[in-house]
Amino acid sequence: MAAEPQPEILAAFQAAKGFMPPGEGLALYAAATEAAALGLPLLEVGTYCGRSTILLADAARAAGVSALTVDHHRGSEEQQPGWEYHDPSLVDPELGLTDTLPTFRRTLRRAGLEQHVVALVGRSPQVAAVWGGRLGFVFIDGGHTDEHATADYEGWAPKLAEGGLLAVHDVFPDPADGGQAPYRIYRRALESGAFTEISATDSLRVLRRTGAGI
Ligand SMILES: C[S@@+](CC[C@H](N)C(=O)[O-])C[C@H]1O[C@@H](n2cnc3c(N)ncnc32)[C@H](O)[C@@H]1O
Repeated sequence: MAAEPQPEILAAFQAAKGFMPPGEGLALYAAATEAAALGLPLLEVGTYCGRSTILLADAARAAGVSALTVDHHRGSEEQQPGWEYHDPSLVDPELGLTDTLPTFRRTLRRAGLEQHVVALVGRSPQVAAVWGGRLGFVFIDGGHTDEHATADYEGWAPKLAEGGLLAVHDVFPDPADGGQAPYRIYRRALESGAFTEISATDSLRVLRRTGAGI
């Protein structure tokens, strides 16, 4: 049976600001728990306010590994003023710029998971360039343009250990449902021959690394 979070973790996840729906969250948790058994860190691109991070952190805690989460905390294109997902409560009043880091830190603290997470504040390709270690899990939920999604895939997928899991959020095969960049990296992973799909839950896809290359 797939691993499920304890009620208090699920409640913290549901109370957190963010974009991950509960059904996809449960699938993410199950995948992170399975991947954590490899004994390697779990990595997320796209922390935002820590909603999905709670699930990775709890899976990491149970396995005695760390969850790493990467974000520059300035928000994606669609979270900027005037765009669909802008949240004025996340703007730093002094700078007039989005800053999701304080909310993220409160979220993790309240969930009691702070000590299981390493927050990497920076641009994903820059962080990937200096992260030399292997990973058991890579969850891509950062920028949704082709430029960002491709850089996330190329930066982090090669660091996945054999048997590790790659999860991609917002995969929409039909352009009527949403942007295509996450779908394109998902297709690329499958077509590379280095990954095998193991689950699909709404827009969340989970693939296992079964070969070399990306
Ligand atoms: C869709 S949100 C993540 C949602 C989050 N996983 C959740 O469960 O609520 C995308 C996040 O990716 C971050 N982001 C976008 N492009 C990035 C990049 N190139 N490097 C680092 N972070 C990036 C944004 O700042 C934003 O917080």
